[in-house]
Amino acid sequence: MRFRTLPYRILSRLRRSDVFPGFNESFFTGPSITDHLRDTYGYEGDLAQIFAQGSPQLIHKWHHYLPIYDRYFSPWRNRPLRFLEIGVSQGGSLSMWRRYFGPQATIFGIDIDPACAAYDGIAGQVRIGSQADPAFLAAVVAEMGGIDIVLDDGSHRMDHIRASFRTLFPQVQPGGLYFVEDLHTAYLPTYGGGYRASANFFNFARDMVDDMHRWYHRKSSTTADLGTMCTGIHIHDSICVFDRNPTLPPVQSRVQAT
Ligand SMILES: C[S@@+](CC[C@H](N)C(=O)[O-])C[C@H]1O[C@@H](n2cnc3c(N)ncnc32)[C@H](O)[C@@H]1O
Repeated sequence: MRFRTLPYRILSRLRRSDVFPGFNESFFTGPSITDHLRDTYGYEGDLAQIFAQGSPQLIHKWHHYLPIYDRYFSPWRNRPLRFLEIGVSQGGSLSMWRRYFGPQATIFGIDIDPACAAYDGIAGQVRIGSQADPAFLAAVVAEMGGIDIVLDDGSHRMDHIRASFRTLFPQVQPGGLYFVEDLHTAYLPTYGGGYRASANFFNFARDMVDDMHRWYHRKSSTTADLGTMCTGIHIHDSICVFDRNPTLPPVQSRVQAT
């Protein structure tokens, strides 16, 4: 039977299984989240307890993200960090970040859903608007007085992720981080992605790699020079982390003791 002659319901299921072979969408049902984090990922840091304790506002995170968050975010704890999360949903992650980063942190969340305004002032400030709106993002950054870390957990649409990145990455202070999560969506046509599709966000990351290495080729920038502001790109399962720092021409020495 030819693929396109199958009923749409089955066709869409086949496409889904093509995209996510072996993907487990069900929630963890074990007795202890902290035991699972320790036994599976060797992770026993504070964030495991903070996440497992929960908060009155619901939070939803993949377990393997927690040690990755801690790896990149731990140097910023108990400091006057300026942290922006794209995607507030039910406010739980803002509560988690407040407990993790401490009282000195300026924590803002943005969401397109006006209902999220209900979480404003609980763990951080919430502003309503689209992550794809440069003027809105600029106003939020101005209100924050600058920005050290962006965490994109918003629409997960490829065009939105890129639009936010183009606006916000240059605004991140040198030494800061830009963290994009749930990038399994990069493989989903529903989100504008697809396996090796041109809009798959990992292709944009690849363009950043080329711009970081501009000393070694003659091609012009494909990222409007964003790659020149980035000294490291770290790819994990469904997560991409960008180090915000200017790239500098490489310098070398030859040293020999006399
Ligand atoms: C995955 S949820 C966020 C979950 C939350 N960060 C947490 O961990 O609990 C995604 C959120 O992104 C919001 N969203 C969707 N499109 C958006 C857009 N264009 N701009 C900003 N937020 C958007 C949705 O309303 C939704 O609340």
